[in-house]
Amino acid sequence: MSEAARVALFDLARVLAPHRPALHAALERCLDHGTFVLGPEVQAFERALQAYTGHNHAIGLASGTDSLLATLMALVQQGRIGAGDDVLVPSFTFIASATSIMRAGLRPVFVDLAPDAFTPDVVAFDAAWTPRTRAVLSVHLFGAPQPLADVAVLCHARGAVLVEDCAQAIGARQTDGRHVGHTGVVGALSFFPAKNLGALGDGGAALTDDAELAAVIRAKRQHGFTVRYQADHLGGNFRLDALQAAFLQVLLPALDGWLAARTAHAQAYSAAFAPLVRAGRVQLPAVVPGHAWNQYVVRTPLRDRLQQALTGAGIGSAIYYPSGLHTQPVFSACGPQGPQPCTAQMCTEVLALPVYPGLTATERDRVAEVTTAALAA
Ligand SMILES: Cc1ncc(COP(=O)(O)O)c(C=O)c1O
Repeated sequence: MSEAARVALFDLARVLAPHRPALHAALERCLDHGTFVLGPEVQAFERALQAYTGHNHAIGLASGTDSLLATLMALVQQGRIGAGDDVLVPSFTFIASATSIMRAGLRPVFVDLAPDAFTPDVVAFDAAWTPRTRAVLSVHLFGAPQPLADVAVLCHARGAVLVEDCAQAIGARQTDGRHVGHTGVVGALSFFPAKNLGALGDGGAALTDDAELAAVIRAKRQHGFTVRYQADHLGGNFRLDALQAAFLQVLLPALDGWLAARTAHAQAYSAAFAPLVRAGRVQLPAVVPGHAWNQYVVRTPLRDRLQQALTGAGIGSAIYYPSGLHTQPVFSACGPQGPQPCTAQMCTEVLALPVYPGLTATERDRVAEVTTAALAA
């Protein structure tokens, strides 16, 4: 296999290539004004983000992880979650969804997946509910907009807050057309470079329509200061870097085009794999309106065979996630958790295929061809 024939799971340099002159100009602008912490770049990006998602408030933060942490700390400060209370979180997600809960002094309680789904549904959240549950942290995994109306009703009825982990889902929309992050009290974003809108380093944001909560999160990102050098409550250094905000201003206008390219790839894969589905060889992610396709993840008991075939053909793929969070030793301090059979099974069967915007149709068709050959055999 020649180098030229390799298909990357994700090639950031390729995606950024058309934007290099504008990124250089943004760097020059920052060098000219010399404000590298908060200031006009972060403010301008926050305004652009608000306009994009339709939220009343966007707070630039250092990462998706810090966005979740600052949000949960703020909710505890407001008394909407009590110290040590339980927060329901899927067992099939990136670890930061749950470690942020612990770091905020709360207890993650793992929720198993709904059958044949990448996320828990309202039935699963209800089944995992404990007497101390005061919050639900729902994850829009792989960029799929998780329907939340019935989860929101459940939370409301039981006096719990709903937080949306939108780290993988900027640009995803619910069936009513609104961006994700409006159903819960906060939508937490990540700008890790491989996300749909990636910075040239780490970054994140909290989106909210709640002015009081926004003010508390804003204070949290800067040591809890409400007035300079005066902190009434605990905070940290959770600030979005001004340089990253400048780069993100350049890249945000490209996001919808990137999402369209991701969607075209996902649709093409799903059409190509239809015979494999009929033969019972693979399960595909649902092609729903508003999906942001951060990952195109197939599910098959022949996962290892498929990954070997792809690797042999020079095609990148990845396992998200190889193990459920309930198996991670870090959470043993949180006490016994219920069994997570759907998550455990899912972890043995998932594989992410290349779906990034810079992927060419020829490369995508090659991925489909190798996948079909590996699974049809
Ligand atoms: C679902 C989810 N939550 C939270 C995070 C944390 O974001 P960050 O890496 O920006 O801290 C990620 C990042 O991969 C994620 O995928």
